[in-house]
Amino acid sequence: MIDHLMQWLLRSKNGVFLPSGSETEKMGTESRLSVAKNKFNKSWLQDHLTDPYVKMAQKEGYRARAVYKLSEIDEQDSLIKPGMVVVDLGSSPGSWSQYVRNRLTELGKRNPKIESGKPDGTIIAIDLLPMEDIADVSFIQGDFREEEGLKAVERLLPEGGSGKVDLVLSDMAPNLSGVGVADAARMAFLAEIALDFAITHLDQDGALLIKCFHGSGYSQIVESFKKVFKTVSPRKPKASRDRSSETFLLGRHLKQMK
Ligand SMILES: C[S@@+](CC[C@H](N)C(=O)[O-])C[C@H]1O[C@@H](n2cnc3c(N)ncnc32)[C@H](O)[C@@H]1O
Repeated sequence: MIDHLMQWLLRSKNGVFLPSGSETEKMGTESRLSVAKNKFNKSWLQDHLTDPYVKMAQKEGYRARAVYKLSEIDEQDSLIKPGMVVVDLGSSPGSWSQYVRNRLTELGKRNPKIESGKPDGTIIAIDLLPMEDIADVSFIQGDFREEEGLKAVERLLPEGGSGKVDLVLSDMAPNLSGVGVADAARMAFLAEIALDFAITHLDQDGALLIKCFHGSGYSQIVESFKKVFKTVSPRKPKASRDRSSETFLLGRHLKQMK
């Protein structure tokens, strides 16, 4: 089964089949096999195929198992409330945006001013990669590290860009190089820009949830959060694999900045 999948992955890039005669297609079987083996090691594949969260996401129409990380934190911390403005950083393929939309739509049923089937709130999402449309989610394909990406998000905020944000979510992750210190530094930078955005745009009682790595740089991120938020809580949802250093940090209620 695994070998069959490896063979399939050899012929595909991100699940899209390569045209016959392409560079990868021309590579020898052995080297293609080793490329594929590097990219998708067997244990990852085995885990993915048997992962209950993958199965549940497929059944419930979510684009990624990552949805269950957010849903667990939301259930524990009641993050999503009616009328919220939510910004989803690193949104693709879109399961977090789907979840937020579903929750806000559920909450919209209680609000007679909200048209049936519509979310009671605003969702703005950005990713380097494309994202298939999600109704009522404003998506920007761009780099949030760049001025252009940041400005594009800001233009979509309510009141012509000056309106406050209630919840910033960041599941942004760098492409991992395998060099621990470099990867941690890239992750820390993504955390820092999410925090800067929160400082500028969050409502006083707003919240920021970010993904980070538990390891080098983690304690500095926690310290930065503590300077900004009244409450800082680490979260490791069950859907986040035990062997992964991935963890989440939730900051709530901005401190008064002097
Ligand atoms: C783990 S995935 C997010 C999954 C998403 N939360 C979901 O539920 O479908 C991380 C995403 O962060 C994006 N990303 C990384 N760096 C980024 C950046 N500088 N600007 C925008 N998106 C970024 C990646 O392209 C990737 O799609």
